Amino acid sequence: MYIDRYAVIGNPIAHSKSPFIHTHFAEQTGQAMEYERLLAPLDGFFDAVTAFRREGGRGLNVTVPFKLEAYAICDERSPRAELAGAVNTLLFRNDGSIYGDNTDGVGLVSDLAFHGVTPRDRRVLILGAGGAVRGVLAPLLQTQPMELVIANRSPEKAIELAHTFADMGLVHGCGYETLNGHAFDLIINGTSASLGGELPPLPEDVLSPGGIAYDMAYGKDETPFQHWARAHGAAQALDGLGMLVEQAAESFQLWRGLRPDTRPVRESLNALR
Ligand code: ATR
Repeated sequence: MYIDRYAVIGNPIAHSKSPFIHTHFAEQTGQAMEYERLLAPLDGFFDAVTAFRREGGRGLNVTVPFKLEAYAICDERSPRAELAGAVNTLLFRNDGSIYGDNTDGVGLVSDLAFHGVTPRDRRVLILGAGGAVRGVLAPLLQTQPMELVIANRSPEKAIELAHTFADMGLVHGCGYETLNGHAFDLIINGTSASLGGELPPLPEDVLSPGGIAYDMAYGKDETPFQHWARAHGAAQALDGLGMLVEQAAESFQLWRGLRPDTRPVRESLNALR
């Protein structure tokens, strides 16, 4: 008997929590499937995908640094993947074609909702203008914030990104110094600063009293941004572990047609920290 195979592909990949999450989902929903880690050489993404398909692979999650290459190999993409310009979920169809989706943004919005946070009618600030931010902008704008400001060290990247998404809502790009004198109800850190133990150069009063802070990164300990947010009166300072679980649930649904309950996996992951 064949078991449907799935994997997360990236480089590095050893520490990915995706196998843990998807194995939980499969058990919970009674799906016969395997989910593993796939380390692809930096110049060998396409070959690794081809080999995995040949061996019976049905779908892949794609992580750093291959989301753009994954986008390029698709025959068809979801509208949100087109807008993100990147693909984190591949589905290998029976007719041999490859379908690409991007579940990162909906993962973020679902995790915010899980924590009772709705960006609608709020002033929202997102930090960074790289691939991680681009990937979540469309689903975030679809929640209809009052305004969405993108701040980046290199302001021109933020301004360009804001232009790209301008017809989806009130969105504006700038540098960090422009934030002086402005306060936001929700600040999302989409920079890679946390990975290096750094903090983006935020002005003192940029978080409204009782505002919410969300770091798309996560680790064993609080990130510098979460720490900053707590010290500046945040009502909640969340990290991106819940986003990881929610984007996984969305990918699982695309592959298997079933929506897993994310709460038990969240609890297990939190207990392991
Ligand atoms: P990713 O795919 O994770 O988004 P990326 O495309 O390399 O990675 O983008 C990294 C983002 O983090 C950029 O917006 C970068 O700012 P610049 O475009 O100005 O370089 C931002 N970033 C990285 N380290 C940072 C730091 N210490 N403070 C503020 N922003 C930082």
